[in-house]
Amino acid sequence: MESSSSSSSSSSPFRGDVVKGKVALITGGGSGIGFEISAQLGKHGASVAIMGRRRHVLDSAVSALTALGIPAIGLDGDVRKKEDAIRIVEATFKHFGRLDILVNAAAGNFLVPAEDLSPNGFRTVIDIDSVGTFTMCHEALKYLKKGGPGRGTSSGGIILNISATLHYTASWYQIHVSAAKAAVDSITRSLALEWGTDYDIRVNGIAPGPIDDTPGLRKLAPDEMKGSEAKSSMPLYKSGEKWDIAMAALYLASDAGKYINGTTLVVDGGLWLSRPRH
Ligand code: HXC
Repeated sequence: MESSSSSSSSSSPFRGDVVKGKVALITGGGSGIGFEISAQLGKHGASVAIMGRRRHVLDSAVSALTALGIPAIGLDGDVRKKEDAIRIVEATFKHFGRLDILVNAAAGNFLVPAEDLSPNGFRTVIDIDSVGTFTMCHEALKYLKKGGPGRGTSSGGIILNISATLHYTASWYQIHVSAAKAAVDSITRSLALEWGTDYDIRVNGIAPGPIDDTPGLRKLAPDEMKGSEAKSSMPLYKSGEKWDIAMAALYLASDAGKYINGTTLVVDGGLWLSRPRH
């Protein structure tokens, strides 16, 4: 089972108060990259609400966050259900009195050749990754917008969408996720344009490469990424840590990223650019 422990191998380069007083809602926040983002936002001053489908995963994640001194709640729901999205953003606001940062980290995935993938299997991943991301953004808008409940008129909130690099080229057995993440990147740009202009909300994405100790790596590349031969074709010769993604999230969510809007930041050590040497 996924451990709910913060994986930081290095100390943070950020001051401990860079997101002080902010409230963050993280979908898929109970495990993997979503949990690490939750923990690092919390360690840097935010209160966090984590959303997921499995109550026991949320419970152990909330215990781990609370043990770090982070104000945290776990809210169970499915990003595919509009009523869950509405309930969860409302519960976050009710509990903490505001919502400043929405992180869409919930995702579904499995490896399957296109010819063996049913249209419903394709649709399921689109529903989780793309429609789920839009639904959460849509329902969170009233709390994130400048002048919305719990916030002043001086600034809007932040949205971070976790993406991938699969669709920059083409990836074997990932037609559904590649299409879903391409849509996520497009959603990031469209909302950055419309909601940045109208509501002072910054919308950005993060595209992780292979990240150690995540469900994605275990499910999608259990062996290939571990071999030294595979790693020798990566520009930085190593896979990433959840910490690397969380630091990118902190950068984008804090004032360090205050002029960044509509970008998806690739955090993959340069992997998607690389080809085998021979
Ligand atoms: C082929 C599959 C399949 C598989 C499901 N389906 N698993 N088809 N191979 N391995 C098909 C089913 O047959 C069905 O279609 C449809 O998908 C829905 O399946 P359900 O099992 O009913 O769906 P559900 O229970 O909602 O599960 C959703 C899920 C599941 C995505 C299928 O795997 C899931 O939620 N996993 C947990 C989240 C997760 O994987 N997180 C890691 C993300 S990593 P039919 O036609 O039969 O009805 C990540 C990294 C991306 O996103 C980038 C990496 C580089």
